[in-house]
Formats: sequence, structure tokens, C-alpha cells
Amino acid sequence: MIRRFFVPATFVSSFFFERRGATRSNLDFFGSRRSLGTRNMEHKVPCLCFSSPRVGLTGNLVRKCYRTAVMAVTVVIGAQWGDEGKGKIVDLLAPHFTWIARYQGGANAGHTIVFEGKKFVFHLVPSGILYPDKKCVLGNGMVIDPVQLRKEMDGLAEGGIDFEGRLLISERAHLLLPTHQMLDRAREEDRLVKKIGTTLRGIGPAYSDKFKRCGVPFGEFLDREECVDELLRNHLSQLGISPSPELKEKMDFWKEAARSLAGFVTDTGFPLRRAIERGETILAEGAQGTMLDIDHGTYPYVTSSTTCAFGATAGLGIPARAVTRVIGIFKAYSTRVGEGPFPTELFGEEAQRLREAGGEYGATTGRPRRVGWLDAVALKYAADINGCDGLILTKADVLNNTLFEKTKIGVAYEGLSRLPRKFPPKITVTYRDFPTWPTLRGLEIPPELDSYLAAIEEYSGAPVIALSTGPDRNEIIWRKPFLD
Ligand code: GDP
Ligand code: IMO
Ligand code: MG
Repeated sequence: MIRRFFVPATFVSSFFFERRGATRSNLDFFGSRRSLGTRNMEHKVPCLCFSSPRVGLTGNLVRKCYRTAVMAVTVVIGAQWGDEGKGKIVDLLAPHFTWIARYQGGANAGHTIVFEGKKFVFHLVPSGILYPDKKCVLGNGMVIDPVQLRKEMDGLAEGGIDFEGRLLISERAHLLLPTHQMLDRAREEDRLVKKIGTTLRGIGPAYSDKFKRCGVPFGEFLDREECVDELLRNHLSQLGISPSPELKEKMDFWKEAARSLAGFVTDTGFPLRRAIERGETILAEGAQGTMLDIDHGTYPYVTSSTTCAFGATAGLGIPARAVTRVIGIFKAYSTRVGEGPFPTELFGEEAQRLREAGGEYGATTGRPRRVGWLDAVALKYAADINGCDGLILTKADVLNNTLFEKTKIGVAYEGLSRLPRKFPPKITVTYRDFPTWPTLRGLEIPPELDSYLAAIEEYSGAPVIALSTGPDRNEIIWRKPFLD
């Protein structure tokens, strides 16, 4: 019942703006909200009055719900198969939030940020860390390789990033051992099981141990280091190998890295919940994409975590009702790394041209990404299952008329009314053709691109609130205002 009150609150506000003709200008994400000031608050009151008699809230509860509605936990998710440009968008939105938090996945993620011509690739550290006043959280839903995290933090520290007091690692996040990576590789090389094409970062085995209840939460390691040796023995027996001096050396290094992070390890859920109560804002940064979600993706060709927006509450230890906004990121076309269904995939010369133009090589593994036309069936599914309040399109600059004369949107899978649980080996896609647009200049949206966006809105059922026109932080065109 409470949820019914939040959803209208979001839509009432955007509707409120659109009626004032505020669309189509390059509105700042929050600038317009600030300019609204108290008016923004006013429109919530009728919503509350509307809902309180229906849910019969007591005075105290009303106040608590009201506070929750005013603050915003915004979740940014990938609406395709990962690599949609989530890192860039999180970096762009970060100034407007107090906390930036990763809630799932591990170093399989590769989030790229380009800022003043410099490129940063984040695997574990949240993409908000470049702003010195932001607090960043690695949530309990993550699996953390301490060697990788140490390396990432050391690299950032060399560039002048200070972590003291503003990087928090959940004591409940599970640790990822070198043997998790060996198990991942062994599984991928086993001819008797389906190859997934994983990043070989040990993600599947680390989550398996967590769910088998034999994993090592970070806090547990700090309390009792021997628990890692117990898990290690278990892994060696699975791998059928005996301990070697090289492995011992690797483990010593690993333990040293884990110990060196002890000062950052804490109960992260508690401060996040208190922050929510104080009305502070949290930006939850998803990794991977909806189609890689363990429950709702193209199983078994998925990653091992809940990549969808609802993973944020479990993966950060915050109440479900605290999430007030979900933003889905998608590319103007589609890409996928690894095995699995990809109905709109392109091959041959066309694919190579698109891959080169978009620089479609993995940020984590360097693998060439599979590329294809935009898949509106998958996008609609992502908008639906995540409850996206808005979508942001990236790489609008790539798909221009110097690359292809026409582009396509896959609008239906023949014989299927929606995205299936299991894809048939061959799937026929119905396409709609669109003219591509001239090279983008300034904040103008060419009419061809505008029709492409209108079609995306029609098929996905969600508004495209902004488009990214290049890798840099500043390359963005706000298309629709988007408020609490
Ligand atoms: P993520 O995993 O979703 O954060 O995405 P990745 O960082 O793996 O891949 C996205 C790539 O696209 C990165 O190299 C970004 O710098 C780049 N990128 C993001 N947005 C744009 C855009 O609008 N135009 C172009 N040309 N590149 C972009
Ligand atoms: P970001 O956060 C794209 C894919 C792998 C493989 C499958 C399972 O940068 O968008 P895993 O190593 O997780 O067990 O691999 O998921 N995959 C990604 N593809 N972007 C990612 O992350 C990915 N993380 C995992 O290629 O198909
Ligand atoms: Mg990536």
C-alpha cells in the first residue's frame, strides 16, 4: 500500500513539469528541482493526504513515510547485457547525492569514466569516488577480491584520491579467494558443462560459497583468519590439487591485502539506514545488466547476482520502500560479452564497423564485445521488471549517418509475445528501420534521433530522460526533467 503512494509521487512531479513546458531544454538533473524549492514539497502533500486515509497510517508512521519519500534512493541499473555506460552516468549524477553505493557483483564489472581527458576504469570501487565529498560504500551484496581492491585503491591514491573516512566496505560482503578464480576457470574449461564465457574473476564460485553457507564474510576473516584456510582446503579438494609453495605465497599476499583494508570494514547497512532517516540521498550503482540477472536474465548465461534494481535493497541492507527512483541505462544499440542469446546480433563487416566505432572491447577482459541492433523487447522487459522511472541512452554519438545510413530496432520476436525464459536456438526478429542522424553538435537533438527516441519510448513504455553524446562527464543532453 505504501508503494502506491511513492509511485504517483514520482509521476506527479514529472507531469507537473511537463505541463509547464519544461521539456526539451537542457535541464540539469536536479537544477530544475532546486529552482522549484518548496513547490516540490507541496505537491507531495496531496499525495500523502490521498494515501494516508487509505492505508490508515498513524501520525508517526506518516511522518516516517513522508521523510522516506522526500529523500531519494536512486538506483542506476543496466537495461541490457552490461557495459551500457553506467559508470559514466553514475559519475555524472554523483554530485547530487551524499552516498554512492555498489550493491552487487565484484571485479567482473568494468565501469569507465572519462574526466578531463583522463580515463578511469573501476571494478570494485563505486564510480562516485572521484568527488572528494562523497561517501562510497561497497555493500554486503558484493563479492570482494581484496588484492584487486587494494590495487584499485592504490592506483587511485596515486592520483590523489583520499579514502579515509569516506570509503566503507561491508563486513558482510563475501571475500573472493584466488581459488575462486581457479574454480571459475576450471568450470569454463570443463567440456561437460555449458561454457558461459565468464570474466574468470571467480564470481560464480564466490557466490556459490556464500549461498552454500561456507563463504567468508569480510568481518569473519578479520575476527578469525583460519576460516579462510578451511575454505581453501575445501577448494583444493574440489580442484583436485595439493597446496603448493606458489599458492601459499599467493595466499599470504591475499591475506596481507585483506588485512590492509581492515580499517574500512564496517557495518555499512546501519549508517545507510541512518542517512536515509536524515534525508540524505543515496545513489545505488548497479553492475552488469538486467539480462545478466541470476533470476531474471538469460539463465544460465548470466552472472551470479541480482543485477536488477530490487537487488539494491538486499545488497545494501536498506528498506525496500526507501528506493524512490530507478534509472535504466541503455546504449543506442546492443552489446553482449560472453555466450548466450542475443537475438539482434550483427555479424561480419557491419558488426566490425559498429564494434570499432563504439570501441566495443571489454573494460575488464579486453574481449571484443558482440554487437547488434537495439532490442526493444529486451529493453521493455528491463523497464518493466526494474520499474524504470526513466531511461538514459548512451552512445548517441556513435550511431550516426557516417557509420550507417539506417539503423534498426528489433521490435518483436516472431511467435513470442514477450521475452521468453528460454530462447529457442533460432529466433526471428521483426525490425523497424530508422534513418541515422547527423553528427551531434551542441545540445541540439536532430529530428532523426528524436524519432528514434520517440519509438524507444513507445516500445519500452518509459521516458528517455537524457542522452549521452560522448564518454566525457559533460557530454550529456537532458531531454526531460526528472524529479523526486
Ligand atoms: P559500464 O560497465 O556500464 O559502466 O560501461 P563500460 O564502461 O564497460 O562501457 C561503456 C563505454 O562507453 C566506456 O568506454 C565509456 O567511456 C563509453 N561511453 C559511455 N557513454 C558514452 C557515449 O555517450 N558515447 C561514447 N562514444 N562513449 C561512451
Ligand atoms: P559491467 O558492470 C558485461 C558477463 C560475462 C559472462 C557473464 C558471467 O561492466 O556492465 P561472470 O564473470 O560475472 O560470472 O560472467 O556475465 N559479464 C558482463 N558483461 N558487463 C559486465 O559488467 C559483466 N560482468 C559479467 O561476460 O557472459
Ligand atoms: Mg563495463
